[in-house]
Amino acid sequence: MYREPRSENTESRSLLEWSVLAIPPPLIVFDHDAMPRIRGHLAVLPEGPEAWALLNKTLFGSNETGGHSVAVQSEVLPWDWSSVFGRTAPLHLEIGFNRGRFLRAMAAKHPERDFVGIEIRRRFCWRLAHILNAEDTERRNIRIIWADAKNISPVLFEAGSLEGIYVTFPDPWWKKRHVKRRLVDTAFAASMASLLGPGGRVWVKSDVPAIAEEIAQSLIADARFGEPIPFAADELPFTHREVNCVAAGLPIERFSVTRRADPV
Ligand SMILES: C[S@@+](CC[C@H](N)C(=O)[O-])C[C@H]1O[C@@H](n2cnc3c(N)ncnc32)[C@H](O)[C@@H]1O
Repeated sequence: MYREPRSENTESRSLLEWSVLAIPPPLIVFDHDAMPRIRGHLAVLPEGPEAWALLNKTLFGSNETGGHSVAVQSEVLPWDWSSVFGRTAPLHLEIGFNRGRFLRAMAAKHPERDFVGIEIRRRFCWRLAHILNAEDTERRNIRIIWADAKNISPVLFEAGSLEGIYVTFPDPWWKKRHVKRRLVDTAFAASMASLLGPGGRVWVKSDVPAIAEEIAQSLIADARFGEPIPFAADELPFTHREVNCVAAGLPIERFSVTRRADPV
């Protein structure tokens, strides 16, 4: 069974190479130095060939693709998700999957869709990679990426290629000086509008009213999005944090915005 590593502070070149594998060249520079500092503890990743095989399988669906090479070429961007998943299916993205509860529930509920999860904390990527790998599934409709979604999403997916984006309980980053770390600002809202096809939706859940409001304002600042519409608790599976919030009796804001068709 997978256990989260105890030692948390052993950044090394080899750890960086993991993210190079997951993140194509334009993004290698994105935030490596800052990530460990701003995103808390680091995990110690297992070494050895089995570890590479597992990561490759989880990210690319095969031990052959990706290999030990860190030289993913920028010309492969945006990634051809049909070839990654081995089919063409509606593509959905979850940002900040954390323990993967929601991502796995969605993938199980919607076998006809493909899901990509992006998580900035490597230990959660590694944890979910193990869980997925242990599952005996004929078809895996989940892929995970270890990266900062703000940087990688706009280059990883073709414009108009997503049907749904899920932003659930994003880190609030309370302090004023941390505002720029917030996930959804107007620039990222615009990226999401570009990535979604007409009728596609951004789904948002938060237990922090000020954050929910800020996200809603960022989204509607882009004319391609319609008004935020609340949705019922049972419309989507619960996330890990949502389970805790509900148990604690905290109110939760849930809404979605729909991507309008481009004017003709
Ligand atoms: C408060 S947790 C909520 C996790 C999960 N969505 C839930 O509801 O249980 C926020 C998650 O988003 C991740 N995260 C924050 N900023 C991110 C970013 N820019 N890109 C990808 N993941 C991010 C964090 O590492 C964390 O796992």
